[in-house]
Amino acid sequence: MGTITINGLVCEFEQGEKIIDVANRSGIEIPQYCYHKGLSVPAQCRICLAQISAPNPRNDGKLELMMGGKLLPTCSTEAAEGMVVTTESELAVANQKAVMEFLLINHPLDCPVCDQAGECTLQDFSYHYGRGHSRFTDQKVKQPKKDLGPNVYLYSDRCIMCTRCVRFADEVAGTTELMIDGRGNQSQIDVFPGVPLDNPLASNVIDLCPVGALLDKDFLFAQRVWFLKRTAGIDPLTASGDNIWVEHNEGKVYRLKPRENMDINTWWMTDEVRYGWKFVHSDDRLTGPVRRQHGLMVEATWTRAYKQAIEMMRGEGSVGVLISPMLTSEEAFALVTAVRSIDESAKFYVGAVPVDGEDRAFKNTGGARDFVMRAEKAPNARGVRRVLDSMNANGGEFGAFLKDAPVHGCVVLTGNYPSDWVTDELVSAISDTEMVLIDTLDSRLVEMAGVVLPSGTFAEKSGSFENCDGVVQHFGQAIPCQHESKSEGQIAMDLIELGSGGVLEQRPPAFGAQIVDAQPGQVSSATESVNLERGELFEVEVIRGEMGKIESLSGYVGSITTAPEDELVESDMEMVTL
Ligand code: SF4
Ligand code: FES
Repeated sequence: MGTITINGLVCEFEQGEKIIDVANRSGIEIPQYCYHKGLSVPAQCRICLAQISAPNPRNDGKLELMMGGKLLPTCSTEAAEGMVVTTESELAVANQKAVMEFLLINHPLDCPVCDQAGECTLQDFSYHYGRGHSRFTDQKVKQPKKDLGPNVYLYSDRCIMCTRCVRFADEVAGTTELMIDGRGNQSQIDVFPGVPLDNPLASNVIDLCPVGALLDKDFLFAQRVWFLKRTAGIDPLTASGDNIWVEHNEGKVYRLKPRENMDINTWWMTDEVRYGWKFVHSDDRLTGPVRRQHGLMVEATWTRAYKQAIEMMRGEGSVGVLISPMLTSEEAFALVTAVRSIDESAKFYVGAVPVDGEDRAFKNTGGARDFVMRAEKAPNARGVRRVLDSMNANGGEFGAFLKDAPVHGCVVLTGNYPSDWVTDELVSAISDTEMVLIDTLDSRLVEMAGVVLPSGTFAEKSGSFENCDGVVQHFGQAIPCQHESKSEGQIAMDLIELGSGGVLEQRPPAFGAQIVDAQPGQVSSATESVNLERGELFEVEVIRGEMGKIESLSGYVGSITTAPEDELVESDMEMVTL
């Protein structure tokens, strides 16, 4: 490891590292548009240029300006021992001002209506490195808006031609849908005729675009970014363990974004996960507990519904419990504990693990690991299996459950899948058996159940998932439980309380106000602080402490990758209190 000096600060570098990477890693700002560590380096936007001196071995190692003092791109120049780099010299600053002026010549002044405002590096760098006024008096070139594909719009006249999007489609997605059409100030990004931007990673170009040229159709005008908070999440839909941000405001999720983790997902996420969260606010959500009374499903209090569920579990015959791979490991542990406190001999099975095709790898440029889209469409099958095995509770997979279900006196099903998961085989296997359903979305099972307990989605809980490589990662709760739902973990805690003869009390929810009737818009007018009947709070740390008492689960205490705290979405907008 050697050292270089950037803007007066001495920094260490690895052999082969670019100057811009050393600066980025060391918290030194060098403006940059076309550079991205995951893509090839065209060095074409020219804003990262610096004056660089290096020891000259042919002159006793004396420091000399490289290239006779000409500016050099820090994104394509490797760091070397003893280099002195400055982006603050008169020449470098003059270049930054010139590049900004050039980029802004045809850029429209539509920041107030642009979705990127508040997270736009053109805004940021224009403020820090631009002139503050325009000397351009001619007509700006106007370019069209284009529909590039199912999820992406292009507002061409905002484009600064950094070519990140084109390089991503070529180098990572490998689908090459994007190109540059025309020359000079008539250049436009476009798709080839009849070939929309439609690949499993397509919407990463939205994150890569440093300006508001590539926009997410799904997020268009949905929310100003400075209202959003973000909570660290883990891919809740597949076995990838990809790190994500769940971005939300006033109890409502607005978008998911990739969170960099070079050991797992590098910089990217699939469109499948990016847009797969819509079931969180679906009209099909189960909103409150229901129970069967005289053959009809009627609304019930949580206590009444739990009591009926416990009666069913204590009735004739054995209990079979299906633990969904959509649940966290902590919830699986709590559910096994809860059901065993009601019926010691209950048998547990791993819920259906959907698989779609095969894993698909996407090559990353520059030595980073491949990004892999996983075929297994459940986030925690391994975690659930590990918990069941460790508690001597693994009665088998979904197939074994289907075989055993008819002989059980009562089955408890957990779902929490993002779409309808109920198969004809499942319906026929449980058609003559009493059933307690713990699920998020309406399905055929609701009409068949004796008791229905509505549960919270991934965004409404915290816990850990174990991905297909055996990496266990923690994620945080982003929003309160919607309607009257509770996490499966809280349902387990309540069952433990009631099963042991305790009572549930009206207590405030664990996480902010319960969202009873969220309205669209920036302020959810119907957010109410509703107390729900509950027992002991389901606290992930406490459950992990219990899990740690079993040797094979001891890794759950202290060694799980923790997620960053909630934070505001980065924004350059100053918040003003009126
Ligand atoms: S659309 Fe965005 S990412 Fe693509 S070249 Fe233009 S500015 Fe760069
Ligand atoms: S970031 Fe170096 S030339 Fe664009």
